[in-house]
Amino acid sequence: MKIFINAKDLGNLNTAVKEAFEVKKNRFMYKHLGENKTLLMVFFNSSLRTRLSTQKASMNLGMNTIVLDINHGTWKLETERGIIMDGDKPEHILEAIPVMGCYCDIIGVRSFAKFESKLDDYSENILQQFIRYSNKPVFSMEGATTHPLQAFADLITIEEFKKKSHPKVVLSWAPHPKALPQAVPNSFVDFMNEADVDLVITHPKGYELDPRFVRGAMVEYNQRKAFEGADFIYAKNWAVYEDTRYGQVLSKDRNWTIDTAKMNLTNHAKFMHCLPIRRNMIVTDEVIESPQSIVIQEASNREISCQVVLKRMLENL
Ligand code: CP
Repeated sequence: MKIFINAKDLGNLNTAVKEAFEVKKNRFMYKHLGENKTLLMVFFNSSLRTRLSTQKASMNLGMNTIVLDINHGTWKLETERGIIMDGDKPEHILEAIPVMGCYCDIIGVRSFAKFESKLDDYSENILQQFIRYSNKPVFSMEGATTHPLQAFADLITIEEFKKKSHPKVVLSWAPHPKALPQAVPNSFVDFMNEADVDLVITHPKGYELDPRFVRGAMVEYNQRKAFEGADFIYAKNWAVYEDTRYGQVLSKDRNWTIDTAKMNLTNHAKFMHCLPIRRNMIVTDEVIESPQSIVIQEASNREISCQVVLKRMLENL
């Protein structure tokens, strides 16, 4: 594996999940693979889970790890080509990336959507430059449009907790005070479309996701109807994808907040969210603190999803 951005980069998902369970049984079994190898984690944005779980996965595999926070202790990077660099950014990303590539064997990059240009965001401008100019395998630690390590961890968690072979999985939009990227829901839908689940997406009108991720999945605009008989509720907020209102917040309607009454419509569904989560906006205290909530187990599987990806990249160096 040289690149990890989408579900298809993992190949057969059943095989990948089996590999994840094997790794989870003995996370130090492949420690020899990372000996004298270095992972560089480049963060353009904040993180708790991705930072810790990726570093832990790397250590489980015997790797050395360097963490670089862009704009905190490094030169500010110019990312636009052709610009006259007379402002506050002394280094261009086109030199910085190959230099970073000199000091490591694998690179993880976190670079969120900026909502300044849909074209820039949806071409994964920053991530693609790392792929092109670093000369190293590159994986997304959440790009502008996808968060594959999260979605892979979500799939592993669903496989662990499912009580039937073809569970009903509902992705539900929920309110949030600020505009959030579509990366998490895009990847969740991308992975669920390839998994053995019955996927339903529910959101207010105007929040339709990119059809390249939604593909054949069912969209139900009535949230309560969508929840009926669900085995997993995956909550997430996102801003508008559609061209003319790209990045806008159309609704903060707390009628979409996940509460106990809605969870009671489901088939004793498990509650999932990638975290961090805004309590009593996305979900009530009662639901997230209930035994139905598996958000911590889900976060814990971030170590495993990342370890499978790093293992495969190390095996192909
Ligand atoms: N879910 C997730 O990616 O968490 P962080 O943003 O804290 O890394």
